[in-house]
Amino acid sequence: MKPNRRSFLKNVTAASALLATESIAKPFHIIKDLKKISPNDKIRFATIGMGIQGHSDTKAALRSSQDVEFVAAADLYDGRLTRVKELYGKDIFTTRDYRQILERKDIDAVLIVTPDHWHDHITKAALQAGKNVYCEKPMVHHINEGLSVIDAWKKSGKTMQVGSQRISSASFKEAKRLFQAGEIGEINYVESNNDRFNAIGAWNYSIPTDASPSTVDWDTYLGDAPKRAFDAKRFFRWRNYQDYGTGVGGDLFVHLITGVHFVTNSLGPERVMSSGELSYWKDGRDVPDVLVSILDYPKTDIHANFQMVLRVNFANAGAIANNTRIIGTEGQIEFTENNLVLTKKKLSKAPGMGGYDSFNTFSEAQQKEFKKQYDAQYPEDTRKAEPVKEVRFEAPKEDDAHANHFRDFFENVKKGSVGTVEDPVFGFRAAAPVLACNESYFSKKIVHWDPVAMKMKKK
Ligand SMILES: NC(=O)c1ccc[n+]([C@@H]2O[C@H](COP(=O)([O-])OP(=O)(O)OC[C@H]3O[C@@H](n4cnc5c(N)ncnc54)[C@H](O)[C@@H]3O)[C@@H](O)[C@H]2O)c1
Repeated sequence: MKPNRRSFLKNVTAASALLATESIAKPFHIIKDLKKISPNDKIRFATIGMGIQGHSDTKAALRSSQDVEFVAAADLYDGRLTRVKELYGKDIFTTRDYRQILERKDIDAVLIVTPDHWHDHITKAALQAGKNVYCEKPMVHHINEGLSVIDAWKKSGKTMQVGSQRISSASFKEAKRLFQAGEIGEINYVESNNDRFNAIGAWNYSIPTDASPSTVDWDTYLGDAPKRAFDAKRFFRWRNYQDYGTGVGGDLFVHLITGVHFVTNSLGPERVMSSGELSYWKDGRDVPDVLVSILDYPKTDIHANFQMVLRVNFANAGAIANNTRIIGTEGQIEFTENNLVLTKKKLSKAPGMGGYDSFNTFSEAQQKEFKKQYDAQYPEDTRKAEPVKEVRFEAPKEDDAHANHFRDFFENVKKGSVGTVEDPVFGFRAAAPVLACNESYFSKKIVHWDPVAMKMKKK
């Protein structure tokens, strides 16, 4: 950190910050103290939570720009702090206590990559401490935590990006371009799935042999979760427990729904219902391994009403083909992070007659009469459907969605802008419906959601 660095900082007006944020539907509190970082300064970041994704995020952040520097890490398992020093050198500051990172004035941004139950607490504390925040998905653990995170972000004026990075892939951007250009007509249905069939895919990650209350800060880990004795499974395989994780909804549906919202600009569903079971991984977990949810999206000024069906099956020993299909009245876009197929299909104006049709059951006289009318109503040129067209898109080999997502974050930090592609309003609009999917599964009830006000509705 150069000593004169803060002298470069500039104020940006609240108005320009507001304009920069597309996804904000309503006016919000005045943004104070929005700062730019000089183009000559490196952005110094720290990672809080150096587990699997903490490592992956740190690497992606470093790939994203020459102008960023990794300076500190916090984690509750000592082995992971040792690993940080092994990989990044002894000068990286490491601590069990994330608050020591937030106190440091020379850190501009934090990556929050803890289990879900810590996201809201650390995000709010980091924003209050003046840090720019990259927070992993799902943005919150419970629906009632979302608005307070948004509020803290608005008050802080800091840049925030939520980490469902696939939307920064070339393929998702192409899907958005095609959808917005009207290539599939009016949307009516979406299906998206993410099946798996292996122990690690079903979240049973390796547990180190030295895991114990002396190498793990168990009491801090529990945070707002119920107190209980040390349990290495609950620490290293936290996704399996509702106290810390958000099940397949928060882990995987959230990526699917984020992609669909990105492509369609939808704000969210108004009715959510789920069905599922714990079918195969009966290892003490308290979340389902098969979940199917139906989400009803209302008609808005920008799109027709549609249904979205999401599925995760961790016990799919059959064929697995994970993708998203957005279907409209003139075709479909089927895509993954790496490629996309647009299929265009437009019906002829004439409905057709004969074949598997009631026509053949009419009396001869009636068939003659019907055909006369049909010919008069449908001249030759209305009888041919447009040929089915297929357009394929392959993302370039060098496309790096994860790094792109971080580049967007850091570029906004540099500009002092709040206009990231996945700001907390977008992040919460993706997280809340998947948390509602869980709620519906556990309560066996339909959950009603107001996607504009971002509030649960009673029915
Ligand atoms: N965007 C993606 O594609 C993607 C992929 C995987 C995980 N994730 C998200 O990343 C987050 C972390 O997942 P993971 O797989 O890396 O989990 P993990 O268990 O491998 O790592 C979590 C780490 O957080 C640390 N931690 C917990 N509480 C902490 C606290 N209060 N302070 C500091 N450190 C704390 C733990 O010690 C642990 O090392 C989750 O929210 C998950 O949903 C996102």
